[in-house]
Amino acid sequence: MKNINAVILAAGEGTRMNSKVPKILHKLGSTPMLGHVMENVQAAGIKNIFIITGYKSEMVEKYVGDTAKCIQQKELLGTADAVWQIRNEAVLKGKDARLLIIYGDTPLIQAATIKGLIKKHYSESVTGTLLSVNTKDPTGYGRIVRTDGGKVVKIVEEHEASVYERAIEEINVGVYVFEVNKLFEAIKKIRPNNRKKEYYLTDVVQVLNKDNESVNAMEIQNHNEMLGVNSRFSLAQAYEIFRMRILDRIIASGVTVLDPKTTFIDEKVTIGKDSIIYPFTVIERDVVIGENCSIGPFARIRSKSKVANGAAIGNFVELNRSEAGENSRIKHQSYIGDTKIGKSVNVGAGTIVANYDGKNKNKTIIKDGAFIGSGTILVAPVVMGKNAVTGAGAVVTKNKNIPDNTVVVGIPARVLRKTIKVKSKTDK
Ligand code: UD1
Ligand code: CA
Repeated sequence: MKNINAVILAAGEGTRMNSKVPKILHKLGSTPMLGHVMENVQAAGIKNIFIITGYKSEMVEKYVGDTAKCIQQKELLGTADAVWQIRNEAVLKGKDARLLIIYGDTPLIQAATIKGLIKKHYSESVTGTLLSVNTKDPTGYGRIVRTDGGKVVKIVEEHEASVYERAIEEINVGVYVFEVNKLFEAIKKIRPNNRKKEYYLTDVVQVLNKDNESVNAMEIQNHNEMLGVNSRFSLAQAYEIFRMRILDRIIASGVTVLDPKTTFIDEKVTIGKDSIIYPFTVIERDVVIGENCSIGPFARIRSKSKVANGAAIGNFVELNRSEAGENSRIKHQSYIGDTKIGKSVNVGAGTIVANYDGKNKNKTIIKDGAFIGSGTILVAPVVMGKNAVTGAGAVVTKNKNIPDNTVVVGIPARVLRKTIKVKSKTDK
């Protein structure tokens, strides 16, 4: 096994976010940026991760938990000083030890890219390898300076760059693999001789060059990975790229998404083949949708809900911690909370499950074949039996469970009659 550890720099406040929350805890989708970076580093095969914390370190530590070891940078003196904080860690002492360095504000760099960088590093006898990308708009990024022969000699930060250097279109993405011993020797020599008076990690490239140690760059083609989130504007740009990645994956897996522009699906969502997602739909984290479902337009499926095969969730329907069974229909203007709906249930237009009584969230069960009349209110907790029916506008009160094959009507709902099995339209 290769001796490689990772460090994620996450100490900065992120002043431009204008926030009380450290920048890297801002979410991209439903996961903080730092979470994405940790996941990507792990997926690239690195088990041992250090995280440099600083601004509101307790918040960051709480989020990280046992996933990685947090080390505090007392004063935010720059990215080189951040890496310097782990110099005494025992796991970094081996002769052949390597360190992957990545910033907590670059959540779009994918595991495969990190893996590729590590692979390239090991395949060449170099001291360091870094990621670069060519872009028409290098504004804000460090520029990669090469000799005429193409050798990487230094990285110059935008603030320090000459007019000629500013015109360079190859930028530093901010992911590096270094031989640990030589890295720390180089960091020792860095001076904060720049406008920000910071110790720039990027200066190690020049230091190593002067010591005849070589650093190579791996140029990535995918522009959608490099984005460093420094403001809420770039967070929105990053989210757009991330959202499209999710939709690409979902569409490729056999789901029709009619209008990707207006469809918001969390990364932790599964959708079965041949389901159709209509415009203006929001599907939140940990939702599972089966095959041949129809969702939207204007549907909101909230966290932890399930929609079984063949079910249809229509316009202005909110499903919250609820399950819709096979071939069930909830097609118009409904709120369904903490509810388990069985198979082939028809939920009429405007049905509301009142799951919250001001203190507790209560559960509702609607069994197979039930038929709920338009405008019904079910006050939880309540159970609606198999093939039970409510009349339009019925208010079924708390614990007034409706037996199987029974019709209730009115406010408060009372039994009108027993029925033989009602054949609902949705029965197959
Ligand atoms: C950095 C790079 C730049 C690169 C860009 C890519 C340096 C000097 N510059 O610039 O070449 O093109 O990223 O996105 O590295 N941090 C600490 N401690 C500190 C300072 C920063 O942990 O003392 C952390 C920040 O929280 C952040 C990361 O390091 O997650 C990068 O710092 P940031 O200030 O965003 O650097 P950039 O100016 O974006
Ligand atoms: Ca940044």
